[in-house]
Amino acid sequence: MDDRPIGVFDSGLGGLTAVKELEQILPEENIVYFGDTGRVPYGTKGRETILRYVKQDTAFLIRKGVKAILAACGTVSSVAGNLDKSLGIPYFDVIGPTARAAAAATKNGKIGVIGTSATISSDSYRLALLKLNHKLEIFPQACPLFVPLVENAFVAPQDEVTRLVAERYLSPMREAGVDTLILGCTHYPIISPIIGSVMGKGVSLIDSGREAALSLAKTLRELGKLRESSKPRECGYYVTDTPENFTNVAELFLGHSISGHTERIDIEKF
Ligand code: DGL
Repeated sequence: MDDRPIGVFDSGLGGLTAVKELEQILPEENIVYFGDTGRVPYGTKGRETILRYVKQDTAFLIRKGVKAILAACGTVSSVAGNLDKSLGIPYFDVIGPTARAAAAATKNGKIGVIGTSATISSDSYRLALLKLNHKLEIFPQACPLFVPLVENAFVAPQDEVTRLVAERYLSPMREAGVDTLILGCTHYPIISPIIGSVMGKGVSLIDSGREAALSLAKTLRELGKLRESSKPRECGYYVTDTPENFTNVAELFLGHSISGHTERIDIEKF
């Protein structure tokens, strides 16, 4: 038994798609969420910068006394790799669980991967997929416009701008016949109705935040580290830009309004 909270972080709001899953899978757990809203996006930045940010983000969560950390960000997961040993607490990223789910879902062996520029140029998903099955054919595509579209709430299923951008990014892999598409950025599930309709029926969309949350839940259960307190669960949200901007859009990601404490912090102190 371990009553400490689970720490989840992302460059901004995208990691809330993983929090939404955690709320369903582990409804008793306390969560500390850190969204680096003042420095988003990470996906267009260089490796050194992203690594410096990750060091600060994880140091903040450790200071909050979390029992495990979920990097609910494809970019962080792709660039930082496994931090389990250096952090001293269980650390989860999105790559392994998502690649395993995609490899299990495909029937024709053709898998598309979409993500930020940093995620796609790191080759993280392609390497993880080929390690699972070297016969898979991988079709990667960076979609740098998706994150700003989501952060600015261009997310309605009928949104013409987002649909046009999706058509431009996704039509080559649709024509290549992929039957499974990894949403390799945790912002993308918010526009999955658009992505799904551009890709067409019969293409499985793999949600990286969801797969990572499932993997974390399974491991914490096996380690006997789930919370057993009968007190109501608590969620704390920490951001690096104004909390109002965060809480306004967060509802889109969580499917409900923010109920917990939201606070702006100075991440440069970590
Ligand atoms: N949510 C981040 C990811 O999964 C993308 C946002 C960013 O570029 O910072 O890659």
